[in-house]
Amino acid sequence: MEPALLNSARQSARKARRIAVLTGAGVSAESGIPTFRSNGGFWRNNRFEDLATPQGFVRDPKFVWQWYEERRRGIAAARPNPGHEAFAAMEHRASEFTLITQNVDGLHDLAGSKNVIKLHGDIWVVRCMACGGERVERSELNELPPRCACGGLLRPGVVWFGEALPEGAIERATAAVRRAELLIVAGTSAQVYPAAGLIPLAARGGVQVIEINTEATDFSDEVSFALRGKSAEILPQLV
Ligand code: OAD
Repeated sequence: MEPALLNSARQSARKARRIAVLTGAGVSAESGIPTFRSNGGFWRNNRFEDLATPQGFVRDPKFVWQWYEERRRGIAAARPNPGHEAFAAMEHRASEFTLITQNVDGLHDLAGSKNVIKLHGDIWVVRCMACGGERVERSELNELPPRCACGGLLRPGVVWFGEALPEGAIERATAAVRRAELLIVAGTSAQVYPAAGLIPLAARGGVQVIEINTEATDFSDEVSFALRGKSAEILPQLV
């Protein structure tokens, strides 16, 4: 990457007082968590229709839960990386800071980020399909599929394809992007909407955009700074 490009992006990041961030699976790659669409990603070897849709869950809840339990075990063993930590540091010095994430792994919270919008839910939450009750459940689930005290089937508290996002989440994210001077987009393929729509919303609305990704995305040509590389290496250099 050109040093001049990184320098300009750093100046922009240091100057901005109102910052919004959009992250995806790539931000957790260096914590050892696979992405979805890159090489070795989940959707390269699994059918998302089976594992990440309400229909797939109703067809075979045990199979879906086995996959989520495996992911939960992997995430439980993972630690935040310098990319997550850089965002927590940025939040300290910004006057307004909103971190919008598509990740369900909770690593931004662990790194110390406070104002986090989880567009796709939280893998540590379980929700009853009968009574709607929700709780955080970090321990291993012994019986799969797990059941609620009411007898109903528990599901992972994540958003599946075809489902609505958590109430108010995209509205709050949109408002934060519109108010921001700078949007930092890191580690997302920008293929999944409405999350990806935040990028053109910013770029076409006069908000500066820094994109950090190991590869180009559909929006790389539209952003102010497209930085190619690993988020855990580049983000600390922007703080
Ligand atoms: P993807 O797997 O689609 O994209 C990951 C992106 O991160 C790719 O563009 C990679 O090039 C990039 N990448 C990989 N390693 C990186 C690194 N070390 N540093 C920087 N970039 C890196 O993941 P998402 O965009 O998060 O939703 O996927 C969006 C949604 O699709 C997910 O939230 C999930 C998935 O299906 C649901 O399950 C609802």
